Amino acid sequence: MHTTVSVIKADIGSLAGHVKVPEELLKLCEGSLSRALKKGVIKDFRVTSCGDDTELIMSHGRGVDNSAVHEMAWNTFKTAADLAKKRHYYAAGQDLLVEAFTGTIRGMGPGIAEFEFEERPSEPIVVFACDKTSPSAFNLPIFRIFADPFNSAGLIIDPKLHPGFKFEVHDVQKAKRVFLSCPEELYDLIALIGMSSRYVIKRVFRKDGEIAAVVSTERLSQVAGRYVGKDDPVAIVRTQSGFMATGEVLEAFSMPQLVPGWMRGSHRGPLTPVAQRDAHPTRFDGPPRVIALGFQVSDGKLLGPADLFDDVAFDDSRRKAMEISDYMRRHGPFEPHLLSPEELEYTTLPQVIERLKKRFEPVKG
Ligand code: F6R
Ligand code: MG
Ligand code: MG
Repeated sequence: MHTTVSVIKADIGSLAGHVKVPEELLKLCEGSLSRALKKGVIKDFRVTSCGDDTELIMSHGRGVDNSAVHEMAWNTFKTAADLAKKRHYYAAGQDLLVEAFTGTIRGMGPGIAEFEFEERPSEPIVVFACDKTSPSAFNLPIFRIFADPFNSAGLIIDPKLHPGFKFEVHDVQKAKRVFLSCPEELYDLIALIGMSSRYVIKRVFRKDGEIAAVVSTERLSQVAGRYVGKDDPVAIVRTQSGFMATGEVLEAFSMPQLVPGWMRGSHRGPLTPVAQRDAHPTRFDGPPRVIALGFQVSDGKLLGPADLFDDVAFDDSRRKAMEISDYMRRHGPFEPHLLSPEELEYTTLPQVIERLKKRFEPVKG
């Protein structure tokens, strides 16, 4: 049976600053999705949050880019944003950048990760959601999952995985894409995705064409033309029998890599794997978080979730992330805690620099 999993997310308002989605907004989204379920628009759903972002996790049989599903998700966010505005929650409606729905939710502000597949006899998936970072945060872990045998034993041990995977990489500056096969083109792949502020992994396929993973790569600043918050990304990964094991997928997040985001979307900090109940960034509005929810997709329904980073095995990663946070914070407003000038282009810092422009004079000697 063909099933589509769509994860659509937006920052529609939060509590006590950019910290946490209020319970009543999540409840409202649940009500809206359960009405859509009764009408047959979707087959199942879960609503969750990571920091100030609300995630709609939906299964259906309508394929990707389906306008009925996208419109329903858009209206759900709109209605929740209206309540957020009425209650004066913080940054109410922040990511809903366009007024009227135009057939697809792409380019309207929310982030989207969705894929369609023929359900295997047993179909485990992992849904990731981040806060206080950007889509480039997935480059390193997705690379390690699907191309690095030091992370994923299956690439060596399992004959089904031995052929490797194909990566769809987007140049987010030029809106172009390229497909690269690994292990054959491993160095070419790294040459691009190592420059993660420009080249981001969008999808990963098995060599037989089966979709393995998808990442949301929408950029709020490009839609709005100004800084309106980070494009906190989501991703979906299929796991087990013919794909990477769930544990190989999670292993890639055990190293708290430095990612852009954190305070004012302008700082580098460690991506911290946490249980959903701990996904409320507080210190210096962070550090950046990632949650992982595991599901079985079963005849179009979603069984679960299992909160996968809710495990003592990730305690050391979290401790390390806190050490790195202390170390990075001690740089204060200096690089590399502060992002590079190119990465700061869409923050509010250029407005400050602009004021000094007239005072610059040529260097003579
Ligand atoms: C980062 C983020 C926060 C805000 C910061 C200032 O993605 O959302 O760090 O940038 O709290 O927010 P405003 O300008 O809304 O006071
Ligand atoms: Mg926010
Ligand atoms: Mg956020």
